[in-house]
Amino acid sequence: METSKCIKERRSINNYLDKDVPLRLILELLDAAHQAPSSGNIQNWRFIIVKNKKTREEIAECCLSQTWMCQAPVHIVICSDREHISSFYEKHKNTYSIQNCAMAAQNLMLKAHSIKLGTCFVAGFSKMTMKRILEIKEGSEPEGIITVGYPAEKPTSKRGLLENYTFFETYSNRRADKSLWPLNKKIKDLFSKFKKK
Ligand SMILES: Cc1cc2nc3c(=O)[nH]c(=O)nc-3n(C[C@H](O)[C@H](O)[C@H](O)COP(=O)(O)O)c2cc1C
Repeated sequence: METSKCIKERRSINNYLDKDVPLRLILELLDAAHQAPSSGNIQNWRFIIVKNKKTREEIAECCLSQTWMCQAPVHIVICSDREHISSFYEKHKNTYSIQNCAMAAQNLMLKAHSIKLGTCFVAGFSKMTMKRILEIKEGSEPEGIITVGYPAEKPTSKRGLLENYTFFETYSNRRADKSLWPLNKKIKDLFSKFKKK
């Protein structure tokens, strides 16, 4: 699938079909995650593949009782080996730790969408409980759960206008070439010109 299409189309999926995902595909997702950039190429991410139903139920319960998560046949728990990262970075260890895992997560979710799998990133949980459920060793932190499965819904994108989130040169400065906006339309125009050539 073409990259821009994949990025534009991906949506968080909260409803899944009752259909298993082969391990081969899960490993493809992890391979994509593992290609993500990381500070100093430290690759502090650690992935736990969870297929066991009871464990998935416990995870969903731990994530503020989001029962919809149980529908997804696979949960991928992204942990950070903070002990490892601490030996390289003192001041920025927590920030880098999360940022690196977030990069991996986004890669994984885009790869999933490209092969018609749905995902949702979930981060609201008690770290202590999650560590207990998954026997996460001392020095490692669960950073997020990604539910994976075949989508049973096709949500639409809910986004504000990009121009409301964009500044030029300094924070809050919105003054710019007015002809740039609205960007959605401009991009379409540019594409149509490109196609005509
Ligand atoms: C850090 C983080 C935490 C999230 N936690 C949840 C969650 O607990 N439950 C959920 O259904 N979606 C969760 N999401 C998904 C967001 O709700 C979703 O990305 C957002 O609504 C935009 O929708 P989209 O991903 O379809 O574009 C989370 C996303 C992020 C990045």
